[in-house]
Amino acid sequence: MTDSVIALYPGSFDPLTNGHLDIIQRASRLFDRVIVSVLLNADKRPLFSPEERMEMIRVVTAPWQNIGVEAFDGLLVDFATVKSAKVVVRGIRAVTDYDYEFQMALMNRRLKSDLETVFMVPALEHSYLSSSLVKEVCLLGGDVSGLVPGSVEKSLLAKIQSRDQNVD
Ligand code: PNS
Repeated sequence: MTDSVIALYPGSFDPLTNGHLDIIQRASRLFDRVIVSVLLNADKRPLFSPEERMEMIRVVTAPWQNIGVEAFDGLLVDFATVKSAKVVVRGIRAVTDYDYEFQMALMNRRLKSDLETVFMVPALEHSYLSSSLVKEVCLLGGDVSGLVPGSVEKSLLAKIQSRDQNVD
């Protein structure tokens, strides 16, 4: 029996932003292991495939030994059981996030009472960031440098270029 605390950091990560990365770094200092858990069957039509999203996260989190990246399908609580995770980490950017996060935390507790949700606050400069905004700005030709890691920015530009070529 080990006392190490494993935390899941679940999300769509389409793509990872500097806000996500900030939360991952903070969580890696609090927990023995953090598993960035990429949701596979999101209803939304993602820009990046799950493999692409996971690879982008792997590249950026490579310097931290206690961070892993995995995909999951189905209920988060079931994935937590499989991974022996005691904690779910979620980032809260503003009050507007709170309603949805509060509902999810309570539903997850109802489904698995020994799983704790820990809300973490990113640095102020990331508090307005979201994957969807970053995608929108980038798709419309805006500059997203500083909003996502450099490698993610390259992947975004490459994805947009390949989409444009396919449309031509
Ligand atoms: O980054 P997102 O899209 O806000 O992440 C949402 C996520 C992946 C955390 C949430 O949709 C989730 O946990 N989905 C898995 C299915 C599940 O367990 N649903 C019940 C949650 S209360």
